[in-house]
Amino acid sequence: MHLETPLDSHAADEALILIVDDIARNLQVLGSILSENGFGVSVASSGQGALDAIAEQAPDIILLDIQMPDMDGFEVCRRLKLQAATRDVPVIFLTARTETEDIVRGFELGAVDYITKPFISQELLARVRTHLSVVRQNKRLADLNKEKDEFLGIAAHDLRNPLSKIQFIAEKMSYKADSFTPDLIKEASADIAHTVAGMMELVSNLLDVNAIEQGHLRTELNPIEIEHIVEHIVRDYDARAAKKKITLHYTHDPALPLVLADEVAIVQILDNLISNAVKYSPFNKSVTVRLLTETDAVRLEVEDAGPGISDDDQKKMFRKFARLSAQPTGGEHTIGLGLSIVKKLVEDIKAEISVRSVLGKGTTFIVRIPLASTDVTAAE
Ligand SMILES: Nc1ncnc2c1ncn2[C@@H]1O[C@H](COP(=O)(O)OP(=O)(O)OP(=O)(O)O)[C@@H](O)[C@H]1O
Ligand SMILES: [Mg+2]
Repeated sequence: MHLETPLDSHAADEALILIVDDIARNLQVLGSILSENGFGVSVASSGQGALDAIAEQAPDIILLDIQMPDMDGFEVCRRLKLQAATRDVPVIFLTARTETEDIVRGFELGAVDYITKPFISQELLARVRTHLSVVRQNKRLADLNKEKDEFLGIAAHDLRNPLSKIQFIAEKMSYKADSFTPDLIKEASADIAHTVAGMMELVSNLLDVNAIEQGHLRTELNPIEIEHIVEHIVRDYDARAAKKKITLHYTHDPALPLVLADEVAIVQILDNLISNAVKYSPFNKSVTVRLLTETDAVRLEVEDAGPGISDDDQKKMFRKFARLSAQPTGGEHTIGLGLSIVKKLVEDIKAEISVRSVLGKGTTFIVRIPLASTDVTAAE
């Protein structure tokens, strides 16, 4: 009979250590040291039991006894290293002091460390913690690496088209220089400028995400009058909306209180929300930006009558590089970074964002921005 019952229940974010030993006393000693120190523990009393337990739930670290009947620790380790799913789980061998050859063999099989019996609890804990931290750092690096790959993929994909367009125009201008009238030159350079603007947007969005993530773009919370900032950005979009015959409305409650926010963050948040509303709305619709007073916040709404966002898409929309069902209706660029930037900035300024959307009817993004002073009324 294999023993695979967890000794202790553990929270999801806490590390799970699997202890494998055929001697029940060892399982008990190690298990209680680890669980008393906040680790989740599961145990197995044989090699096969260990493989079964790992197949069910991969632990963060395995403490593996070498000498066991039927299948010894070396064989368990060898099998774990053969499979992609378990290859990266660190194995620490449990060994008697004298077994130097065993230690060497363990390392050759891919173990990261060994602990000698009898166990010294401080040593055990120190080694487990060290290897857990290595695992976490590796995971972070792997995640970062994946993100960089994604970044490169997107950048290569989204820069290639505009670059080849500019190349094409430049070549045409150089081959047929004689036939280029001032009007044609004007047209070609406007085309280049528009294409470059798209590339600049991509690059600056990517830089924004990186900067925000690395904390370079620190937000500074100050009391600000939001209505003029909002009006300014809305007016910036007039021309783009007009091109698609979209009417852009701006309304606000009279005498809005000051909000506590970062002006640059507000501009970026609103810029992205209005840009999306205009980008994904069909021609001839309207987009409304509203500022409303609430007891402890100013509520900013950006409402469109576009395609709406499905529940499924709503779950993904704040992720990076989320290009979802809705497509731009006027040939605009789409990178899938805008809302991920919005989400980070909203968190940074301690505001809240939510969305209300009905498919085929439209979407409203709602940002609640805290007031600069919530006890204004109490002071009257
Ligand atoms: N108002 C909206 N109505 C319908 N769909 C939307 C709306 N806003 C965003 N979406 C969907 O969510 C996706 C993610 O939006 P996000 O702003 O993050 O990226 P994007 O607009 O594609 O690119 P950019 O990085 O240039 O903002 C969009 O691709 C679109 O499918
Ligand atoms: Mg966008």
